[in-house]
Amino acid sequence: MLSTVDKAARDILIANDRGGYTVPTAGMYPYQWNWDSVFVALGFSTFDLDRACQELETLFDAQWEDGFVPHIVFRQDDPDYFPGPSVWGAGGKIPTSGITQPPVAASIVLRLWRATSDDAIKGRLAALFPKILAWHQWFHAFRVPKDLGVAVITHPWESGRDNSVEWDAAAATVDVSRVEPYQRRDLMHADAAMRPTNIEYDRYLAMVDFGRQCDWDHKKIATEGPFRVADVGLTMILLRANRDLAALAEVLGEAEAGTELRGFIADMIGGIGYLWDNANSVFCSRDTISGDHSGVVTNASFLAYYANVGTNDQREKLAAHWQRISKATKFMFPSHDPDEGRFDAVRYWRGPIWAVVNYMLAIGFQEQGEEKWAQRVTEDTRNMIQKFGFPEAFSPVTGEGTGGKNFSWTAAMWLAWCGRSDWYRDE
Ligand code: DGY
Repeated sequence: MLSTVDKAARDILIANDRGGYTVPTAGMYPYQWNWDSVFVALGFSTFDLDRACQELETLFDAQWEDGFVPHIVFRQDDPDYFPGPSVWGAGGKIPTSGITQPPVAASIVLRLWRATSDDAIKGRLAALFPKILAWHQWFHAFRVPKDLGVAVITHPWESGRDNSVEWDAAAATVDVSRVEPYQRRDLMHADAAMRPTNIEYDRYLAMVDFGRQCDWDHKKIATEGPFRVADVGLTMILLRANRDLAALAEVLGEAEAGTELRGFIADMIGGIGYLWDNANSVFCSRDTISGDHSGVVTNASFLAYYANVGTNDQREKLAAHWQRISKATKFMFPSHDPDEGRFDAVRYWRGPIWAVVNYMLAIGFQEQGEEKWAQRVTEDTRNMIQKFGFPEAFSPVTGEGTGGKNFSWTAAMWLAWCGRSDWYRDE
């Protein structure tokens, strides 16, 4: 029998379904977003595997010829959202944005593969393999410089952690003097106190202008773009995704791809030290232009467990941050360090808790012998959802919802993870 919360979660996915793809939430985000959609596929897989596959297939329908998979797929224009398709001026037969997002597809497809014995579904997942591989090859061609071995973002939105404190210093150098006047639409749907500021938006737009003006030339953006930051979150997620895609290559008998992926993994393991900030004893993002570490502890720092990196000494230092942060806030894990001056419990990625990050943290902690931490982030997310429903994110101070309401990925995380006692299976 379905519990009331299970039913409410399913109802959100069904209500946000626009016919083959799901919007993150009605109104504020009226298109298909890359990593939202992949987490949503995981949610759908708990009651409709066919629909789960379709969600992934429609995302990859928008893949570009060079393997790039965009962060937004625009199947229609919608005045509720800015910047829409005409501002980006990108994509092929389906208009898209010109930047990407954290590549969680390989990890979710591997999970779906292992959970099903249905040959037709397995066939559809196998058909996604070359597309996901092409996307990872794109990352390693354009975003993981061989001499660094870590993933570089060219717009804060590529991190998925849009207004994280991690981008403050690097983004402040971006010239906004030529940004044309525009009207934000996000503020029609959410409290301004929970959203990025206007200056952050100006910088977002300046970076979009740079990409459009060079016709989304990925090489030029990667080498000359105004914002080039090695992102700790995207690096850990891509490293994990490379490992999961290599596991998929093995079961599919894709030996050549397996060898290539092991090369990607070795490059990234070799490069991870670039993101360790000795001064602050933490993995954090680093501006590749100035060479400066962000110097702050975020939820993405702890994705080191998900990526299975870090020496014993580094893990001990991360544990000290965990102990400190778990005393400073009621719910775990905040997107920014509550002891740092820029912490803001309700402002998007500058404090609030995100269920999808907690999900990846829980997997990493569980696998790496930190079961208590896995239990803590799982129970905290469960409790917040039971009490406050399915908002975009949650205040780590009160547990209340922040940002938009009836969010697809929060519902998906309930269905596939924190609403289940059997969420983790050692495979
Ligand atoms: C937004 O518009 O706020 C999105 O997060 C960009 O991806």
